[in-house]
Amino acid sequence: MNHSTDTPVAVIGLGLMGQALAGAFLKAGHPTTVWNRTTSKADHLVAEGARLAPTVGDALEAGSLTIICVTDYQAVRELLGGTGIELNGTMLINLTSGSSAQAREAARWAEQRGARYLDGAIMAIPRAIGTTEAVILHSGPRSDFEAHRSTLGALGTVTYLGADHGLASLYDVAGLAMMWSVLNAWLQGTALLGTAGVDAATYAPFARQIAAGVAEWLPGYAEQIDSGSFPAEVSALETDARAMAHLIEESEAVGVNAELPKLIKAMADRSIAAGHGGEQYPVLIDEFRTLRDD
Ligand SMILES: NC(=O)c1ccc[n+]([C@@H]2O[C@H](COP(=O)([O-])OP(=O)(O)OC[C@H]3O[C@@H](n4cnc5c(N)ncnc54)[C@H](OP(=O)(O)O)[C@@H]3O)[C@@H](O)[C@H]2O)c1
Repeated sequence: MNHSTDTPVAVIGLGLMGQALAGAFLKAGHPTTVWNRTTSKADHLVAEGARLAPTVGDALEAGSLTIICVTDYQAVRELLGGTGIELNGTMLINLTSGSSAQAREAARWAEQRGARYLDGAIMAIPRAIGTTEAVILHSGPRSDFEAHRSTLGALGTVTYLGADHGLASLYDVAGLAMMWSVLNAWLQGTALLGTAGVDAATYAPFARQIAAGVAEWLPGYAEQIDSGSFPAEVSALETDARAMAHLIEESEAVGVNAELPKLIKAMADRSIAAGHGGEQYPVLIDEFRTLRDD
């Protein structure tokens, strides 16, 4: 295990994100080998001290670990499945975005070829890479993560989630679900208040306070979900459903889009129809657990 900045690393894929990753390794002092299909994207990294590998195979042999970060898993497979590419003994860390099933499949594929494999997800934009703001999630064998934790730390705040290779992708999309839900709720309120001449900047601090308040409920609600028991300690779902109807009526009355509140009300109505009206809001978890394509 080598924890010094002498640890050689390789980065395959020099799009916007791959360039940031390679740049952060260079800045931290790691001997850094890079490869990209379009070679010119390596120019400024080479000027900063990176070594340009002539082939993917050469890049894989150059580092104690190799990061791959390309558009999608198909590109990963095209790159690493090429003839003459030897994965035996390499430590691969795939930071390409994809689904949990793709991550698990890629892990099986790489491990069958003798590679050690961690999957990862980057919850940051390229300019945050190399700072603590960049959260990078990893899943796969803990020993592999621990062996390279210090080197990976050059990229940002690195987190280990568990042995299941699909976890990084799942946490990634769970985070996106949270991000868009909060933003969409804020946009709904901003549109409503806009009809009364309240601008977005005036509502934003108020909305922020509500979002922070709701965030405080999560640990208690999580306990209800994990125990499968939903006593209405604060309010019953049927009370929430009446407020949802009010939000829909208000939106339609002032000419604001009501699609989102209607969707949420439909989920609550189904749960109430199934007999959960007297329970607390997180009982809706069963609606989220059920795939519907109608
Ligand atoms: N940018 C972000 O803010 C961000 C944030 C989080 C996660 N990510 C993830 O990071 C990954 C890379 O994103 P990016 O922003 O760097 O994308 P990008 O700028 O579009 O770069 C895509 C990279 O993939 C390579 N590539 C695509 N198909 C290939 C193939 N068939 N064979 C060889 N190379 C191929 C491209 O090579 P060429 O240069 O030759 O085209 C390039 O290096 C994605 O999975 C993305 O979801 C990005």
